[in-house]
Amino acid sequence: MAILDIVLHPHRALYTKSKPVEAFDDTLHELLDNMAETMYAANGVGLAANQINVLQRITVIDVGTEEEPQLLEIINPEIVERSGSITWEEGCLSFPQVYEKIKRANKVTVQYKDRHGDAQEVSGEELLAVALQHEIDHLDGICFVDRMGPMKRKLALKEFARVQAALKREALEAASKAEEATPEPQ
Ligand code: NI
Repeated sequence: MAILDIVLHPHRALYTKSKPVEAFDDTLHELLDNMAETMYAANGVGLAANQINVLQRITVIDVGTEEEPQLLEIINPEIVERSGSITWEEGCLSFPQVYEKIKRANKVTVQYKDRHGDAQEVSGEELLAVALQHEIDHLDGICFVDRMGPMKRKLALKEFARVQAALKREALEAASKAEEATPEPQ
């Protein structure tokens, strides 16, 4: 298994609609394994294939706990039912350290294929419903900032830029410290 690189806003893959999976083969299984490992390594509750620059309708979700994981491998999903509404503070692995409240359906039912191509259905409320909608949005090339009003979206993107600049500064400082600490080669 391998941890994959997660692309960040404004990468094109995040704003491109994914294509349905047709082959439920070993390549898909390896991709699913790697996506789950990548999601867990990043402490995320969901990861869509767009976020690893793969434009296929695949997402992994786990809203369980470390002791009791509940991994869902969801391929070619369709939301077939939605009801109620809920406002949830969401984050996204492609927008590190940016959090914003988003209004979505409180309950959804999703039909999808599992890794073997068999039809499955899942219904979820609250966090699971939010995660399903957030990840299926990714497959349609929609990020959570696109679900915000224009004002909140602007603030969230400003926060994203601030965080990225701070992380870059930290990395540069760490690199220059490492350089200072390295003795001249003899
Ligand atoms: Ni996301």
